Amino acid sequence: MAWKVGAAIAGLLGLVGVTAGLGSGGDPRRAGWRDSYRPPAEIPFPSENPYSAAKAELGRRLFFDPILSGDGTRACATCHIPDLAWGDGRARAATRMQGDMDLRTPTLINIAWQDGPLGWDGKFRSLESVAAMPMTSPANMNLPMADALTRLSADASYAAAFATAFDDPAITRERLEAALATFERLIVAGPTPFDRWIAGDEAAIGEPAKRGFDLFNGRAECASCHSGWSFTDNSFQDIGVGTGTDIGRGRLKPTSAALRYAFKTPTLREIGKRGPYMHDGSVATLEAVIDLYDRGGIDRPSRSRSIKPLHLSATEKADLLAFLATLSTKTDRDLTTASFTTTVPAP
Ligand code: HEC
Ligand code: HEC
Repeated sequence: MAWKVGAAIAGLLGLVGVTAGLGSGGDPRRAGWRDSYRPPAEIPFPSENPYSAAKAELGRRLFFDPILSGDGTRACATCHIPDLAWGDGRARAATRMQGDMDLRTPTLINIAWQDGPLGWDGKFRSLESVAAMPMTSPANMNLPMADALTRLSADASYAAAFATAFDDPAITRERLEAALATFERLIVAGPTPFDRWIAGDEAAIGEPAKRGFDLFNGRAECASCHSGWSFTDNSFQDIGVGTGTDIGRGRLKPTSAALRYAFKTPTLREIGKRGPYMHDGSVATLEAVIDLYDRGGIDRPSRSRSIKPLHLSATEKADLLAFLATLSTKTDRDLTTASFTTTVPAP
């Protein structure tokens, strides 16, 4: 099955004999950089939770079903909204009591390739382990695990779906988590102009975007953290942002000076429609993100050594923005659900 899913990605990106090619002009290192953005051949599934269509379909149903909330008003998809690049467009996620949580809802795009800890501060050890927290949290979905299992067992169609997915009728926490994670691993970045350029189509993106790509990989050092096909090395870094109250990964690793104020490096896929930005939604626009990097953020001992004032010209800022725009399937917000779910097997 893994092979079939892998084939689906290659088909989606239209990869006919991938070659980075030798671009005309630009930084002499450009061709080498382009090579590092080639898409993987298939979606990785852990051996403890291998792919199956029945499990993925069960996970999809659970993800969109408010049955997993105490009062039946919230599903995972209430915040991880396909049309909003699997985020919610808010600065910080909404609590059940009309308030704000401390953190912004992250996208789930390419979550299968996040092989390290998850969450902005890395509090989750695996994708499987995430779901129980939003589901049972009183401020969020507010459904105790035991109640969830009772509810699902009482629903004949869920009982049948679990029995098919796991060859056994018992509905357990581990199976609920395994099904959700299997579905989430199918949330794969859609084909963008950038991917067509990587596959060899020189005309897929414009000259400003190509210059922006050179800057991103060269002088601006963005790719030292936002590297590879998913635009993240899954590391935790202090880029000098935030109000100073949330110390991020530093909470979990108090002895590491470098991890104070460190947050997960996010993917940049669909970045144009994922604002407001950062773990706390504190940066409103992409222009403001570029200005932040240009200033070098808050200078403090934990700030990454790759972050420093860049002194970008107006043209260089525009080039970086033109490059970031090529990482979206569409540049506007009117994206249809279909364009994000093409790799997810139909029900
Ligand atoms: C109220 C909005 C909300 C709901 C509902 C919600 N989430 Fe989230 N999700 C968040 C926020 C906020 C975070 C960041 C949490 C953190 O970093 O500690 C997050 C983080 C995650 C992550 C980690 C992503 C990453 O890049 O590290 C996964 C996976 C995830 N959620 C899956 C789910 C699943 C599965 C459900 C349903 C069981 C769900 N979420 C329900 C808001 C929500
Ligand atoms: C030292 C590692 C590092 C470097 C270098 C770096 N970034 Fe980031 N980037 C991060 C981290 C970590 C975050 C999230 C920070 C947070 O939420 O507090 C982030 C956030 C972002 C965001 C917002 C993403 C979101 O989902 O909110 C954008 C856009 C971005 N970076 C673009 C860039 C660009 C463009 C450059 C180069 C000018 C760059 N980054 C350089 C690590 C880095």
